[in-house]
Amino acid sequence: MRHCKHTFVEKVPLLSLRKVQKSFRGLQALKEVSFELFSGEILGLIGPNGAGKTTLINLITGFLEPDAGSIRFAGEEIVGLAPEKIARKGILRTFQHIQIFDGLSVFENVLLGLTRETKRKIWHDLLGLKRGRSEEDFFRKRVEEVLKLFGLEKWAFLPAESLPYGEQRRVVLARAVISNPRLLLLDEPAAGLSPRETKDLISLLKRLRNKGLSVLLVDHDVELVLEVCDRVIVLAFGELIAEGPPAQIREDPKVLEAYFGEEHASRRRA
Ligand SMILES: Nc1ncnc2c1ncn2[C@@H]1O[C@H](COP(=O)(O)OP(=O)(O)O)[C@@H](O)[C@H]1O
Ligand SMILES: [Mg+2]
Repeated sequence: MRHCKHTFVEKVPLLSLRKVQKSFRGLQALKEVSFELFSGEILGLIGPNGAGKTTLINLITGFLEPDAGSIRFAGEEIVGLAPEKIARKGILRTFQHIQIFDGLSVFENVLLGLTRETKRKIWHDLLGLKRGRSEEDFFRKRVEEVLKLFGLEKWAFLPAESLPYGEQRRVVLARAVISNPRLLLLDEPAAGLSPRETKDLISLLKRLRNKGLSVLLVDHDVELVLEVCDRVIVLAFGELIAEGPPAQIREDPKVLEAYFGEEHASRRRA
């Protein structure tokens, strides 16, 4: 066994953005955005509507290419890679608008999240076992595990579209988590949820964190993000204006100003 008591271990970020820029026909949506996300953390990204949050997710997932700057995942530059390639590296996103497959059960909706990569891995684990049925059993077991984690097992065989909105959101999340992503990007997962459903989502996200998942949680719901996240970054008009632990972000005058206007911020300062 190695003695590592005094060994300095440099923390390599899972995701690292350096001076990322993006314009849309003259509108600068992101200006020199730099930040890091570490393995196992839930990093919150908040900012008013139009701040550039979704654009940032589109850049990280390869749906858009930055005009300048670097995006590294596990130390490797991913700018210029096709979205499928980036997804195969383990970066997975959910969309701002819910994506349920109508006509399919909850079980089937989640099963569809098993990517080719994950299936190959499972298949690899199965070598030596009987073909056919055992493979299917294995997939089924994996779906059942995830349904349980998400509290969806009692609805497994109902059509997903018949579920209340909050549960549908959980189905979408379960579909993302089942493929074992290395990094999960959630775009406004609380949009349209009732306070009760938002609470459920918060406890679910905490459970995912305890499982060691790395998450970039994007929302304009400040309370949700501050409650769940280890660290928060704040975007306003395409610029990062603050970064820190939730308690510090809550009190940051620049953040209050971005959300509630200068008047509010100066009243708080007075
Ligand atoms: N594909 C696009 N074409 C043109 N403008 C866009 C496009 N995507 C986003 N924008 C603009 O970029 C800005 C940031 O948008 P977005 O990233 O969606 O913000 P957020 O998700 O924080 O609400 C907005 O002004 C938006 O209108
Ligand atoms: Mg958005």
